[in-house]
Amino acid sequence: MTVTYDYTDRTVLVTGGTKGIGAGIAAAFAAAGARVVVCARTPPPTVPGPGVGFVRADVRDPADVERLLSGLDRLDVVVNNAGGSPYAPLADASPRLHARIVELNLVAPLLVSRQAYPLLRAAAGAIVMIGSASGARPSPGTSAYGAAKAGLHHLARCLAAEWAPEVRVNTVVVGLAATENAAAHYGPDPAAVAATVPAGRMATPADVAAACLWLAAPGYVTGAEVHVHGGGETPAWSRLVAHPPRNP
Ligand SMILES: NC(=O)c1ccc[n+]([C@@H]2O[C@H](COP(=O)([O-])OP(=O)(O)OC[C@H]3O[C@@H](n4cnc5c(N)ncnc54)[C@H](OP(=O)(O)O)[C@@H]3O)[C@@H](O)[C@H]2O)c1
Repeated sequence: MTVTYDYTDRTVLVTGGTKGIGAGIAAAFAAAGARVVVCARTPPPTVPGPGVGFVRADVRDPADVERLLSGLDRLDVVVNNAGGSPYAPLADASPRLHARIVELNLVAPLLVSRQAYPLLRAAAGAIVMIGSASGARPSPGTSAYGAAKAGLHHLARCLAAEWAPEVRVNTVVVGLAATENAAAHYGPDPAAVAATVPAGRMATPADVAAACLWLAAPGYVTGAEVHVHGGGETPAWSRLVAHPPRNP
């Protein structure tokens, strides 16, 4: 079975769409016929596909966000993807770093959504937040990031109610993901980490993009979270407990 989407004549903004998950999302919307704009702080060596334009913008900077959105005359979909965090134990990292992490993962999507709202309302469009499993369970070592992502998931629920019925707002809650940066997140042996996922592998950018294509297409779903995590993370205690065999 093949599921296809037709985003011809639709304009899609993917923040942080120059690499990793964002590049996969941008490429998927472009392949579905959309005009795609990606933004980041650094121009990429190549854009993630034909029909993809790049605008330099730091999504934490309100002036950059205003300039980014004022360059568009139509907007159907915003994917708030730019985000992330270094390993930053709360007591060890500086207050400024923690504030910057919250700014990138919570305040910036709020700024982008706010600035995009008039265009999205005119187009009866949709916002997709790229959330994280770190915002849905404890995230030791990246507490500010986890708290910001939890806030982002809730921001989506609030905006879904505030901007209904014109603009739908949903979140893709991403679990462990295989990007070019996987070693930085998951250590030198990402394959061993991937084996802990019930699905037997980490999510690819294409897996996340498939959920974005579905959530951004016209429909009834709003204020919802779709977990793209391959079945989640099996609790560590369950490996320590000897269970009787099933159907003895
Ligand atoms: N990778 C995972 O395992 C994983 C798991 C769960 C959730 N997620 C979420 O998925 C999203 C993408 O993650 P990723 O791993 O693909 O990230 P990534 O590879 O580090 O790419 C991040 C993208 O965002 C851009 N960016 C960063 N700061 C920015 C800023 N201030 N303004 C504008 N653009 C900015 C980067 O470009 P510049 O640096 O040039 O600005 C880049 O294009 C994030 O929201 C992350 O929290 C990732």
